[in-house]
Amino acid sequence: MEIITDPRQMQAIAEKLRLNRQLIGVVMTMGALHEGHLSLVKLAQQSAGTVILTIFVNPKQFGLNEDLHRYPRPFELDVALAKAAGVDYLFAPEAGSIYPDNFQTTIECGALGERLEGNSRPGHFNGVATIVTKLFNIIKPHLAIFGQKDAQQLAVIRALVRDLNIDVTVVGAPIVREDDGLAVSSRNIYLSGQARHEAGVLYRGILYARERLAIGERDLQAVASEVSRMISRAPGFTPDYVVFVDEESFEEADSALEGKEYRLLLAVNTESVRLIDNAAMSA
Ligand code: PAJ
Repeated sequence: MEIITDPRQMQAIAEKLRLNRQLIGVVMTMGALHEGHLSLVKLAQQSAGTVILTIFVNPKQFGLNEDLHRYPRPFELDVALAKAAGVDYLFAPEAGSIYPDNFQTTIECGALGERLEGNSRPGHFNGVATIVTKLFNIIKPHLAIFGQKDAQQLAVIRALVRDLNIDVTVVGAPIVREDDGLAVSSRNIYLSGQARHEAGVLYRGILYARERLAIGERDLQAVASEVSRMISRAPGFTPDYVVFVDEESFEEADSALEGKEYRLLLAVNTESVRLIDNAAMSA
């Protein structure tokens, strides 16, 4: 595995791979690699001849009061995990080479980026879209794998690729979970033992909602409120939002139409840690 830090060198290597007709798959991360990230690498390897993993803690997607400075950066461990997973190139640029002093152009996501996560984290998706576009331009991948764990991010990136005619196939990958159903996340290490013990309640909420739909409940708002109350009963857990969206439009949905797919989205704060989760379910 080759480690690249210079964007121009990465671009030159990617250019050569393309000329040699290599199918390039990219997995973009902020590091602190875990089973979720590694599942994306595996998926990329199934379709791409060369897999490029990027690690960059992108300052532009963090709000002023967020965890940019405490975000875990176990670089040596990440290198070992990436190597063991069979990654071909690890691209880990310095912030200064990605955002030099004269940097001024950003991507504006529009309405989809301002709701839900975007409402609680203003500017977050513009920051995500900007770094993802830059990484697309540096790596020029044929294939890019993103996790369903960040469902709204995936929707924003699909819109970005469509709206700006970016020549890449975006693939969504299933959520990897711990034994109690908690979605694996780099931020889970912030949780105290007690909060970690309670955190399975998000997934129990998802299972409960799925069960309610399966037995014929069509009032999505009522189901979301029940899930929200369920989470509030866990000590120290405060739901930010629990809502259903239409799986295709990502618009909020209050009642379900027979046979349609919806996605339940949850964001919960506990001990100044933000946990998000989601699951698709059909009525
Ligand atoms: P990060 O949170 O490191 O996640 C990198 C990728 O891993 C994302 O596509 C995310 O959805 C996926 N992922 C995280 N946890 C997962 C899990 N439990 N199961 C499956 N996939 C999972 O998302 C980002 O970084 C950044 O916003 C980024 C896209 C890299 C732009 O900076």
